[in-house]
Amino acid sequence: MTTSVSTASVDETREVGRRLGLVVEAGDVIALEGELGTGKTELVKGIAEALGVTSGVHSPTFVLHHRYRGRLPIEHYDLYRLEGLAWVDTGLDEPAPEAVTVIEWPERAAVLDDWATTRIRLTAPGPTRRRLTFIRGPERIRAVFEHAPRD
Ligand SMILES: Nc1ncnc2c1ncn2[C@@H]1O[C@H](COP(=O)(O)OP(=O)(O)O)[C@@H](O)[C@H]1O
Ligand SMILES: [Mg+2]
Repeated sequence: MTTSVSTASVDETREVGRRLGLVVEAGDVIALEGELGTGKTELVKGIAEALGVTSGVHSPTFVLHHRYRGRLPIEHYDLYRLEGLAWVDTGLDEPAPEAVTVIEWPERAAVLDDWATTRIRLTAPGPTRRRLTFIRGPERIRAVFEHAPRD
């Protein structure tokens, strides 16, 4: 079953992220699919905020990975720059069990894509309009997508 919400501003997208941050659990691996500028990093900022991380969240430019320390640790991957590169070996056998892992551009590294227990797709129907669609994952996460961020 898919469920989706529409947002009309950056703050509304962050609000969806904050709601996700309230229900995520250690070991969750959330794949965020969507083109550049669809709001993936803004969503991660909301998740981080709800977990008590107040600054420092951004798409890594020269690294593929950041770790933030909140109520739960957050492993933030952004694989955008992997385009055209061979993914040799991450050296990672499994996602960090004590953390919440969030992956932008998961399709660029099969090893990380395979970890995903939750999938969310983002699209940009208009300049300030974003659609966030739950593809699969646990019910506690799906439930976040039942209500518009301004409800
Ligand atoms: N409703 C919205 N939700 C999220 N971002 C929005 C929205 N409307 C406009 N934007 C803009 O879209 C961009 C989203 O950026 P970002 O989250 O970094 O995207 P991504 O990580 O998917 O490439 C920002 O420039 C933001 O200001
Ligand atoms: Mg990003």
